[in-house]
Amino acid sequence: MNRQVLPLIGQPVDRVDGRLKVTGQARYAAEFSYPGLVYGVALGSTVAAGRVRDIDTAAAEQLPGVLLVLTHKNVPRMPPPAPETPQNRFTRATPLLQDTAIQHHGQLIGFVVAETLEQARHAATLVKVSYDAAQPRIGFDANVRSAYAPAAINAGYKTDTRRGDLDQGLRAAAGTVDAVYNTPIEHHHPMEMHATVAAWEGDNKVTVHHSLQMVSDAAPAIAATFDIPRENVRVVCPFVGGGFGSKILTRDNAMLAVLAARLVKRPVKHVLTRQQMFMVVGLRQHNRQHMRLGADASGRLTGLGHDTVTHTSVHEEFVEQTGVISRMMYEVPNSQVTHRAFRLNVQTPKWTRAPGEAPGSFALESAMDELAEQLKIDPVELRIRNDARTDLDTGKPFGSRSLVECMRIGAEKFGWSNRSAMPRSRRQGHWLVGYGMSAASRGAPHRGASANLLLTRNGRDVRAVVEMCATDLGTGSYTVIAQTAAETLGLPLDKVQVRLGDSALPPTPGSGGSWGANTFCTAALAVCEAARQQLREKVNLRFVREPSVAELLQAAQLNEWRASNTATPGADIAAWSHYAFGANFAEVWVDEDLGLVRVPRYLAVIAAGRILNPKTAASQIIGGIVWGIGNALMEESVLDERSGHFVTRTLADYHVPVNADIGDVQVLFAPETDTRVNRMGVKGVGEIGITSVAAAIANAVYNATGRRVRDLPITPDKLL
Ligand code: MOS
Repeated sequence: MNRQVLPLIGQPVDRVDGRLKVTGQARYAAEFSYPGLVYGVALGSTVAAGRVRDIDTAAAEQLPGVLLVLTHKNVPRMPPPAPETPQNRFTRATPLLQDTAIQHHGQLIGFVVAETLEQARHAATLVKVSYDAAQPRIGFDANVRSAYAPAAINAGYKTDTRRGDLDQGLRAAAGTVDAVYNTPIEHHHPMEMHATVAAWEGDNKVTVHHSLQMVSDAAPAIAATFDIPRENVRVVCPFVGGGFGSKILTRDNAMLAVLAARLVKRPVKHVLTRQQMFMVVGLRQHNRQHMRLGADASGRLTGLGHDTVTHTSVHEEFVEQTGVISRMMYEVPNSQVTHRAFRLNVQTPKWTRAPGEAPGSFALESAMDELAEQLKIDPVELRIRNDARTDLDTGKPFGSRSLVECMRIGAEKFGWSNRSAMPRSRRQGHWLVGYGMSAASRGAPHRGASANLLLTRNGRDVRAVVEMCATDLGTGSYTVIAQTAAETLGLPLDKVQVRLGDSALPPTPGSGGSWGANTFCTAALAVCEAARQQLREKVNLRFVREPSVAELLQAAQLNEWRASNTATPGADIAAWSHYAFGANFAEVWVDEDLGLVRVPRYLAVIAAGRILNPKTAASQIIGGIVWGIGNALMEESVLDERSGHFVTRTLADYHVPVNADIGDVQVLFAPETDTRVNRMGVKGVGEIGITSVAAAIANAVYNATGRRVRDLPITPDKLL
């Protein structure tokens, strides 16, 4: 029998959906169509606070082709929102346009539907809105004094933690750092704008094509919003063009499209504009972080304080877990980590890739560099001396922690020993050259998920279809699930088809929080093992070696076999603390006259357990590094403090790195075997890649120039 026994898990196989993507056959939400499809355009508020006094829709409604101008005046009544709880935060109802209160600039206040997109856009310009505007609360400095302690911060972390006596720890120190770091508001800009195509059958059943990270949660959210049975909602999303946290929730814009389709009794397509993406799909908040570090003369930390103040919106609370990285990263007996928030007339901040760790690591890892400088200890060595054996926040041992190995490998490969500890001591012509490094960590959660398997046999041709309501954000879910199933079934990769992104398929928690790959693949592994076990019991023969499913189907004379399974995380994983770790090394060149910063060379060494596919995993990390370079050097959403309007409203104003900004970026995976994190030993790589990148670059800029920039982004003006 021709049986392919090649190991597939861990191989750098090409994306199984690559051809579909480059040939345009992969269908994204906006590419679905229906007979009679019409177009929706969302209207945003042009003030940041107050009330809508009136909306005059007459001129818009008279235009040819216009089918609906939806406002608070004609919207159907919907019950008020249920209070957010940890259980309902992805699935609760979203009431739409129910009142006239304005909480932020760009808030959606209407929705226009017309036969063509051009008619809808034109009509939207004719809608006249008058406001009773109020003075908005916008400025960070003007409002920071009203900060309060939120009950909890994102992901249920404690707002404040203290251990030992920080003041005493700092007093006992031979060297201390006391500094404030600012990271600005940033926006996620996936290439694919948020898009919705909604098609009702009657008034009680709807299919929604929507670009989402968590498709299984979208169906109950839509069902709750429109008060219809959950089984009457189907959400379809086979491909997603990036999410970064912005596509976790089914937001107002999508719900408005679904509502409008119900009202006009036609399928509606709605795609946000890039400008609207700055206003309604979340953002990363501006964090002001006060760091205090103390260490004895040998570099052992004696105290760590990390106090963050940030903003949330006037109507909702979301506070990213900015300081939590400081609770577990280093062995420090005395610490205090706190979070405070105040309210602004700005949209509610929401999950943005590595929420918390990305800004928090900038402050922590910059402060560690400042401490190393003060104590005249090499920055790598300082971190090695403070490596923690247990997670002091939870008291649990780490399931695995390979930070020191990452730093050692990275230092060696990067040539860290060539660094001069003296700032401003290396140059190439008018470029000042510096090296910087940082350490990174990000939690490695694992969650339960379900999957179906269909095996078919036609003579010797055996194929498998694996189905689950997972998502592929462009990250490689299709590929790693196919690898896992093919290897477990003993089938060639091309005999396995993977179907994702459909709420009719078995539920998964979707892509977020760096849990996707390990969760999906564990579910795929479990359903394939279940099928194999079932077939073995049916066949009841002795095999000299483990038979493939092809052999089992043949022995059982079966042409088809179906299995379903739900994989739940073992209770044992809670005995350990699970994190991926990484070390970043950056070389920067700074133009002495112009303040320009270039990053010609960057190396990240990541320890994330078993790597399912080093090619797709490295691409994830590279993507994180590129965004991290953006964080460090260019990304900043600027608010007009008078109007609450983001003045950076296109990708011409909101600068992101382009190909020419990115030099030689290398990613290495440190070998790490972890049998505790989950069955497959896999930690996620979706967020560790961006973590601490900005600190590595800022530390390199210091080494190059002697200028410590504590306020991101490091634009040329800050170096002149
Ligand atoms: Mo992530 S910010 O959990 O998509």
